[in-house]
Amino acid sequence: MIRSVLIGTGSALPAKCVSNDELAQRVDTSDEWIRERTGIAFRYVAGEGETTGSLATAAARRALEAAGLTGADIDLIVLGTTTPDQTFPATATTVQAALGCNGGIAFDVQAVCSGFIYALGVADSMLRSGAARRALVIGAETMTRLLDWEDRGTCVLFGDGAGAVVLEARESDDPQAPGIIATRLHADGAHNELLFVDGGPSTTGTVGKLRMSGNQVFRHAVVNLAQVLREVLDQAGVAPDQVDWVVPHQANARIIEGAARKLGLPLERVVMTVDRHANTSAASVPLALDEAMRDGRIKPGQLIVLEAMGGGFTWGASLLRA
Ligand code: UT7
Repeated sequence: MIRSVLIGTGSALPAKCVSNDELAQRVDTSDEWIRERTGIAFRYVAGEGETTGSLATAAARRALEAAGLTGADIDLIVLGTTTPDQTFPATATTVQAALGCNGGIAFDVQAVCSGFIYALGVADSMLRSGAARRALVIGAETMTRLLDWEDRGTCVLFGDGAGAVVLEARESDDPQAPGIIATRLHADGAHNELLFVDGGPSTTGTVGKLRMSGNQVFRHAVVNLAQVLREVLDQAGVAPDQVDWVVPHQANARIIEGAARKLGLPLERVVMTVDRHANTSAASVPLALDEAMRDGRIKPGQLIVLEAMGGGFTWGASLLRA
């Protein structure tokens, strides 16, 4: 049996931090409303010279450092992003060049807020099939560049950042061995008008702005996340009370709590960063994962479940042993 084992994590945030009060000076909102409805207190916003590629590269460097590796040891980069530096080439190739990876495979995956879970699923399949040996899986975004700063229903919700993990293919006959145990991915294009960007290279020729029917997305998110969490645990024959940590997509504290409650997962075992990062789309899960690995909450041998849901809709979950 080959498993993709997590051997390093890293993350990066832009220099500039923006509080709810600062946003209240731009649009008709308040710190109280944002905290109550979302759990967000502040977010990081990319400035001049900070891009998805530069944040991804910084996060990847830290993940490589944690794994005791260099770019030359990596033969696969899968980068989840919906805000690439350019329409093409893939931002993964920018990261590859910056890290000196000497070839291998590099491409982007576009599944919006589920981008990291999709990227992880793809990389895991490639490692287990023997297509590569060591992968960098990255979630990186500059979502604030897609925001309509006059729309209070969306501009207060998002932030920028990047997170990365290094996966290594390792053989083992032990079912308790570390590594990714199961991944479930879903998409339902019937709902893409509830969360989308109103531009693109083949339609308007512009980048466009993010549009969301937040309330409807909210309702789908709680149901879909609870369902996919249950699926991935069932697939692995794991009961909710055996899970040590849930590392969810950080869109809204109330969504995270709602999905966890449906499964009977206690909130003390849920990693929350939404208060400080806001919704960083594909970056949110690896940012939270890196935080919980570095501060020692996640320990070797523990069972971790990652989950996300985003535009498309896309959603998914992955169960792994640290
Ligand atoms: O990453 C995956 C994709 N995104 C999500 O998962 C986000 C999902 N949705 C949400 O997180 C929530 O739906 C929001 C935080 C976006 C909104 O919270 P809500 O409790 O669903 O509020 P609502 O949309 O039902 O709006 C309630 C009221 C409205 O006013 P009226 O019509 O009741 O008078 C809004 O106009 O809140 C108003 N409102 C605001 N007020 C102050 C909307 N945005 C703001 C704001 N400040 N920033």
